[in-house]
Amino acid sequence: MSEFGKTVGEAYAVEGPAIELGLGVHEGKLDKAATVRLPLAMLTRHGLIAGATGTGKTRTMQLLAEQLSAAGVAVVVADMKGDVSGIAQPGETGGPAEKRAKELEQSFEPTGFPVEYLALGGIGPGVPVRATVSDFGAILLGKILEANETQEQSLSLVFRYADEKGLPVVDLADLRALLAFFDSEEGKEDLRGLGGVASATIGVLLRRLSQLEDGGGREFFGEPQFEIADLPRTAADGRGVISCLELPAVQDKPKLFSTILMWLLAELFEQLPEAGDLPQPKLVFFFDEAHLLFADATNAFLDSVVQTVRLIRSKGVGVFFITHNSQDLPAEVLGQLGNRIQHALRTFTPQDAKALKATISTFPTSEFYDLKDLLTLLGTGEAAVTILSESGVPTPVVHTRLRAPVARMAAADDVAGAAKASPLFAKYGNPLDRESAREILASRIERSVKPVPETEAEASEEPSAPRRRRAPRPVAVKDPLTDFLTSRQGKTMQREVIRGVFGMLRKRL
Ligand SMILES: Nc1ncnc2c1ncn2[C@@H]1O[C@H](COP(=O)(O)OP(=O)(O)OP(=O)(O)O)[C@@H](O)[C@H]1O
Ligand SMILES: [Mg+2]
Repeated sequence: MSEFGKTVGEAYAVEGPAIELGLGVHEGKLDKAATVRLPLAMLTRHGLIAGATGTGKTRTMQLLAEQLSAAGVAVVVADMKGDVSGIAQPGETGGPAEKRAKELEQSFEPTGFPVEYLALGGIGPGVPVRATVSDFGAILLGKILEANETQEQSLSLVFRYADEKGLPVVDLADLRALLAFFDSEEGKEDLRGLGGVASATIGVLLRRLSQLEDGGGREFFGEPQFEIADLPRTAADGRGVISCLELPAVQDKPKLFSTILMWLLAELFEQLPEAGDLPQPKLVFFFDEAHLLFADATNAFLDSVVQTVRLIRSKGVGVFFITHNSQDLPAEVLGQLGNRIQHALRTFTPQDAKALKATISTFPTSEFYDLKDLLTLLGTGEAAVTILSESGVPTPVVHTRLRAPVARMAAADDVAGAAKASPLFAKYGNPLDRESAREILASRIERSVKPVPETEAEASEEPSAPRRRRAPRPVAVKDPLTDFLTSRQGKTMQREVIRGVFGMLRKRL
């Protein structure tokens, strides 16, 4: 056995369950002794799949998802291009997958996996995933609205007001009604009561809201809200369900989909119970185009992401970020990704060369490779791998020829049909419209506007005018909310509200 085979074989040996990634390559030759494995117990230490376009990132994600499902671990996949949806169907024989299996001397057994197709707000085929604005919270909403720190804080105050007054902010129409209230005569005093929210800020938020309404927000925000418990599931045969979030239809809305992915992750964190160190995770979340999440992020947003990624481990959830260039992720996030599958990097521009250097600096030194050569010369479906061994030690970097997925490496035939046939479609297929802030505010303003009794003097001013009903003159009410809050309905809606990370509602209204 070669020195290389021996070193890799030992470093990647496992006692518990593991994902078989592939075989090591050294000096141009495949080494059968150098089996590269990823222990399932280490998946909650998170990971990174990076590399240039067309180098095999999506298929690597598919490979991991398939083996996780087979091991009974639930998976959530952000399917950017729709080309992961075929994971429900067996792979094709005679193609690149079978060829790769032969190279690695494995048998090729085409297999389909249990899949649930989801679509944000039902845009595109898939079971509609929706959330209430209130649950989403100020920080995440601020991210989609491209709010700066001040605007984000103002949103927080508006949400707190709604919480205190028991106003359910379900969809964007509710938020619009609330902001419009603060922008109006009736709401002036309450706006002052918010403490430090400028009316100009309310105006900016209202304008941004219009953009979001037309940019997918109208579809996404509302009820029924997606229940996070529908993600960590196993099929009847014990395999983990792969929830494919179909994103092609919202590809042009990067702020929307990347923030919603983060919302899903934060919901998992908020709602799953503490799990401690498990032999294998409950769920693994693949976050594609992860760099989009961090573009123009406020500090509060970044802090919340970092906190969620750090703490979600204890809930038995692993997160893999997928991006072209690892340097696109903030250092605080990158530093928490224990498992790294780095596909080839290209060096066409001086920036590329700089990124390559930076990537190499984050890798352990290698006794077998010149990392610069390695990272630029990796073939398609090959990667430089370094992960955490079962004992939590970073493993030596290995040029790995990855296994091929056994399910189809392309889009599924009928995503829409499969989604409609799912029991989840019955649960989430139709939007719901219950009484929320918009209706409550509307009726309140109506009630606060009392008709002024006609005096004789007024009547005699226009003796010749035809008899007509006068438009009621608005009468300012001291506290326009008191009425509502002392009503029976108002009281039942006032409950203790807890907001968690990202300012999300933890207790549902
Ligand atoms: N492990 C693998 N085994 C066999 N073939 C592979 C493997 N990985 C990738 N390929 C081949 O390479 C092609 C491109 O891979 P893939 O779509 O995963 O690239 P990508 O990095 O996701 O690209 P993009 O950045 O454009 O999304 C696949 O269609 C497949 O033919
Ligand atoms: Mg891809």
